[in-house]
Parts: sequence; structure tokens; C-alpha cells
Amino acid sequence: MAEMPARMRELYDLIRHHDRLYYVEQAPEITDEEYDALVEELKGWEARYPELVPPDSPTRRPGGERAPEFGPVTFEDPVLSLANVHDFDELRDFDRRLGELLPDRPRSYVGELKIDGLSIVITYHEGRLVRAATRGDGWVGEDVTANVRAIAAIPDTLTAPVDLEVRGEIYLPRERFARLNRTREAEGFYPFANPRNAASGSLRQLDPRITASRGLEGFFYQIRAWRGSDPAPATQAEALVRLHELGLPVEPHWRECPDVEAMIAYVEAWQEARHQLAFDTDGLVFKLNDLAAQAQAGATAKAPRWAVAYKFPPEEALTRIRAITITVGRTGVLTPAAEFDPVHLAGTTVSRASLHNEDFIRDHDIRVGDWVYVRKAGEIIPEVVRVDRERRPPGTEPFLFPHTCPACGSPAVRLPGEAAWRCLNLSCPAQVREGLIHFGSRDAMDIDGLGEKTVDLLLEQGLVHDPADLYTLTVDQLTPLPRFGPVAAANLVRAIDASRHRSLARFIYALGIRYVGEKVAAVLAQHFGTLDRLMAAGVEEMQAVPDVGERIATSVADFFADERNRALIARLRALGVEPEAERAAPPAAGPLQGQVVVVTGRLSVSRREVEARLAAAGAAVTGSVSRRTTLVVAGEDPGSKLDRARELGVPVIDEAELWRRLGGRPS
Ligand code: IVH
Repeated sequence: MAEMPARMRELYDLIRHHDRLYYVEQAPEITDEEYDALVEELKGWEARYPELVPPDSPTRRPGGERAPEFGPVTFEDPVLSLANVHDFDELRDFDRRLGELLPDRPRSYVGELKIDGLSIVITYHEGRLVRAATRGDGWVGEDVTANVRAIAAIPDTLTAPVDLEVRGEIYLPRERFARLNRTREAEGFYPFANPRNAASGSLRQLDPRITASRGLEGFFYQIRAWRGSDPAPATQAEALVRLHELGLPVEPHWRECPDVEAMIAYVEAWQEARHQLAFDTDGLVFKLNDLAAQAQAGATAKAPRWAVAYKFPPEEALTRIRAITITVGRTGVLTPAAEFDPVHLAGTTVSRASLHNEDFIRDHDIRVGDWVYVRKAGEIIPEVVRVDRERRPPGTEPFLFPHTCPACGSPAVRLPGEAAWRCLNLSCPAQVREGLIHFGSRDAMDIDGLGEKTVDLLLEQGLVHDPADLYTLTVDQLTPLPRFGPVAAANLVRAIDASRHRSLARFIYALGIRYVGEKVAAVLAQHFGTLDRLMAAGVEEMQAVPDVGERIATSVADFFADERNRALIARLRALGVEPEAERAAPPAAGPLQGQVVVVTGRLSVSRREVEARLAAAGAAVTGSVSRRTTLVVAGEDPGSKLDRARELGVPVIDEAELWRRLGGRPS
């Protein structure tokens, strides 16, 4: 399912972007004709790649009209954007202009990383989160309070009962982005183009539980409308320290830069190092440190004069394709890849990128010998963006997609309505290999030591032909193999044995049924409870399960209807593989196991740390007191949650008691 062409993906993002401008912000940037042209173009792509069409495609929307989903929030101070500079000369100009504007003030700056996410404006009243809004058009944003409350990384309560507005950026860490896209693809949704789009999509969910599950995080960098017992911060550096003290996450790599040379050094330090961060950055931001000087410098209609974004160039590299190779995946799909001269790109060296399928190669007319631009989607996945036609050497030929499987030589087919060529030979060695690797992988049957190399060795030796064969392996068979020996052999046999009773969800996932990713497997396991019930279920019954549509249901039913698959499952069972019937996950063991805890008021450590400690102790931490709540931890100046707890008779403890129960205060 990783085959969506870049343009098609871009169209989904564009249409969604314009939908939002039109429906939510009521500030369209393109004409209706231009919008319709995008939708028409998308329909063309969808006709060509029907199996990639996501269930939530805009072309499937009835009538196309959608009500604004999030109410408007009008800002007192508009949320401005930043002027960009791209080189050191422009950075010097920025400093010089400020010198002219503020001749009597010493200039010193703060440099920060520019987080590539989406702007958020949060209001706290007496230390409590009361409202959160996206930037919108800068004057009117969208009210996303419920969803922001669901983000664990953003505190509901600050460490002091202050009134203020904070501004910052919500983002999705790269790892979470990669994981989210893997799940989406396995479940038939189109992947997000980059972490920023993923963050934006995750924040705009109608159901805050979905937002909560995505793992969004935030960094804050600005305080407005401060009202507290301490004086307002006087510099940007003080503001960052204050934000941190209040329990808000602040990106820690900011620096004070006394002059332009220091700003340049800061840029140089981050040009490459940024690729090692856990999140995307699209530049650096330099701000006058003195907030009174900022006020004096003021702003244009669009951007403050006291700050500037130093933008990093989008990272693309030019390289030359040496070969186009084909690999055969677990489901028999033939996936082409470009092998090119190694180039340095966004922090690593890359020499290979997926070309998705036959149409992608034809649409971009990609040929062996071509010079191509490559980039990384979300700084992770290398992709070919375009061919530099002017550099095309003479004598290149359009690429002929193979019509036979490179692994087993069987004829490959391209079924009507599919983008992929497929090898239909179920005993194709490449499919068997990938299937075995998947079966034993960590999220499936979790067989420690059954990596690619071991699978290759077992296949070479003819010891294993399908997953059931794994459960026949003996220490005596494995000991003489290269790289084995008695200890490794015993370990592998033990690891295989330990996988006999994995959860039903893992087992279903391990079978490698098309369109059944981890999440769908879990939902099916939960609903049917046992393998027999799932195997006996019809398409309609499966479609009644939330998140299971016709395509998934048909795929699962076809899988279990196939005699070969039934025989495999029967053999697995005969060899003692019996997935555990599904029951609710047992809570983590710990001193607060099973407790549902609410924290209120100010504690001496950050909210995040308290929540982490509570979770580690087995408690579920929730935001509001209800009849389900079993314990309330009240810090200083607790709010209405304490009253509610008293009303409901929920036990209340103070911070000291909390640390006692948790076996000590964090150092
Ligand atoms: S300061 C008055 N600092 O970049 C302008 N912005 O391109 C205040 N951003 O809208 C912005 N990291 O969403 C600032 N450390 C940072 C930032 C940052 C990311 C975003 C922000 C802003 C956009 C401007």
C-alpha cells in the first residue's frame, strides 16, 4: 500500500487545505473553478489507482458541503507570521535595519529552532487551560480546546495560578509520524505527506480521543497578556525560562546571541545537527531579546520587525539513476526502486528510493541513466521528486516494467483496477521469505532471533517452507548451522515455543492478510474473541465491526475461505499454536494499579513528570473528576476538581502522600 504517487498525495493535502480555508476559515485562496480542477485531477488519479483511494477521499463526500467543525476564536493581538531570510547577508540586513530603527538600544537576540508544526494559542486562567485555538488567518482561529486538552504533553494546569496567553507550536515527532503512516497504509488510508500535515490532521479530529492517540507534542515560545504575582518577563530569554517554570514544554536548544556573528554561528551549528532531532525544523528564528525593544520596533501588517526566520533550503539532492530494481513483497506485489549514486540528504546518505509502481515510472518518465532530484518525505523516506530532463544523456530508453516475477520467474499479472503487478505464485520464495519475516516480527508473533538473516538461512537449508514449519524445528537441527551452535539453537527454539500463545490480535496480524494492519487485527480480535468465530464470520458480519469496511471484510473472508490458508492454520494449531482469546489488557502492575487518578493544583514537579510516574505505577491519569475517579491528588491552590471530588466522595491525597505511595519523590 505504499504506492501512492507524490502528486496524488499532494492533491489530497491541497484539497484538504482549501476545504479548510473555504469552510472553516471562510477565506478561500483559490476560485471555485481552480478548486474543481484539483478535484477533477484527483478523480483522474483515483481512476488510475482505485485501490489507493482512501475511504475519506474528498471525491466521495456527499455534495461536498461540510459545516465548519470548530468554532471561531478572535484574537486580540493577531498571530503574525515571520519574515524569512535565506542567507547571512539577509540576516545582516535584518540586524542593520533594527539598528536604524532603534538607534539608542543595544541589540541582542535569542535564537530558537523553528518547529515545523502548526501554531497554537492557549489561554490559561488562574493557571488552568481554558481555551486553545489554531492560528487560522491570524485574526480568527479555530477553537480546538477539547482536542488540545486531550494532548498529554500539554498541561491542563500550570505550576502557578496565572492568567496568560501562550503561543507555540504543536508538532508530531518523526517517529510517531512514521508509525502513524505505517498504520494508515496498512488500513487503507492515504499516508500523510509530512509530520506537519499529520499534526494538523490529528489536531482537527472531531473526536478528541483520536487526537489523544496520535502522540502530538508542543513547544511554547511566547507569553502574552501576563497577569501573575511576579512581574512580567522583560526579555525573550526570561519568557522562555518562565514558560518552562510554569510547566510548559520549551524547546531547550535556544541561545542568547549578542550579535550577528553569534547568530551566524548558531545557524552553522544547526544546519546539519537539526536532522538528528526528534522533530522537523524548517529553520531558525531570531528575536530581539529585549521585549520593550520589540514593542518599540513594532510590526508590519504581516510580521513583526523584531524577529526573522532563517529558512533552511528544502533539502533536495541531484543524483543519477544507475539501475531500477524490483523486489517482491509479502503479498506478491512487484515494487520498483531506483538505485542511484549515493547522495547526502537531510543527515544521512541515501542511494535508493521506491518508485512505487509501473504508472509512477511512466508518468514521470523515469529512466536508467537519468539525473533526478530526490528528497525525504518527513525527513525519513527517500523519494524521487522529478527528472532533470535537460541532463538526460542520449540513448536512454523508457523503462519496461517486467511481466515476470524476478524471484520465481512465474508470469506476473496486473489485475484490472490495480496499480501493482503481482506474482500470484503463493509459494514464490520471495513471498514466503517476507511472510516469515513478518510472522516473527516484533509486533506480530514476536519471535526473538528470527530476523531476516535467520529466515534466509532456514529457507536455504530447506528447514522451513511456511510459518508452521517453525514449530517443528529442533535444537539438533539448528545446532550445526552456520552462525548457530547449541546456545543460539536452544534460544531460537525457546523463542519460537514462547510464541505459541500470543494474543489473538497478534496472531491475526501475523497471518499477513491484506489490509489488516495492527489496529484492524486488534479490532477484529476484540470483536470476535476467538479465531474460530472470526474464521466463521461472513463479510457482512465483519463489516458490522467499527473500522472494518467492505474491502477489509472481503479480504479477510477470502483469506479464510482459501483452502491453503485453512490448512496452514490447522497445522499451526496441531503444532500447539493456540492464540489466546481476547480479554481486556491487564493494567500495568504497580502500587497504584487499577486506580483512575486526577491531579489538580500546583505540585513541586512538572505535571508531565507526575503523570509519567503515575502511569508507571499502574494508574490511569484522566483530566476530570467523575464517578470512575478513584483518587485525586491535590497540590497547592487546587481548583474545582477538588470540590467535585469531595462532592462525589472520591479520596483526596496531597503531594507528600503521593510520593509516599509511589516510593519516593523524583530527584
Ligand atoms: S515566533 C510574531 N518562534 O513559524 C511571530 N515562531 O513562519 C511569532 N514557529 O507562525 C512567531 N517555531 O507557527 C516563533 N521558535 C519559534 C517558532 C515559530 C515555529 C512558527 C510559528 C509562526 C511561523 C512563522
